[in-house]
Amino acid sequence: MWVFGYGSLIWKAGFHYDDRLVGFIKDYRRVFYQGSTDHRGTPEYPGRTVTLEPAQGALCWGAAYKISRKEDQQVALTYLEVREKQYDKKAYVDFFTDVNASSPAVTGVMLYIASPDKANVNYLGPASVEDIAKQIVNAKGPSGPNRDYLFNLEKQLLEMGCEDEHVTKIANEARKLISAAEDQNHQAPN
Ligand code: SIN
Repeated sequence: MWVFGYGSLIWKAGFHYDDRLVGFIKDYRRVFYQGSTDHRGTPEYPGRTVTLEPAQGALCWGAAYKISRKEDQQVALTYLEVREKQYDKKAYVDFFTDVNASSPAVTGVMLYIASPDKANVNYLGPASVEDIAKQIVNAKGPSGPNRDYLFNLEKQLLEMGCEDEHVTKIANEARKLISAAEDQNHQAPN
């Protein structure tokens, strides 16, 4: 069994695995369109986490984890079904490690998607870079500040050599908002 992570699963698997490969899947793009009320936000103030949107020709970089033993697979699945419970769909895709390869390194890699379906009550969808960044900067939940998720994701992707324009734009905007708020705090009279 293989699991593909494109968000927090990149830096925190949370289950036992036998191998980890950095690579990409095709025809999906990573987007901060899923509302998070259980990890990086609250029902009162949801955060935003990434999901996948179908996009012909796009590549989405991340990490694939191999889980070999039946017992480990069972434990990992039980864990992931709770952790990813706000992601309403599972898909099985081809995973590549080489941009020049025509055949995948691994087939049938499982991933979680938060879809725009009505049943996914936390789905937020597109918004301007400014609005997404503002929401992320201000949200925090049981797993920590939403901004840590954003900056960690940006860092992990850069370490992989992946420049994700959507993530970079939101991270740059978030940094602007944070430094503007800090400037204001410094200027505030005692
Ligand atoms: C993933 O990492 O693959 C799913 C999204 C998340 O948990 O951040």
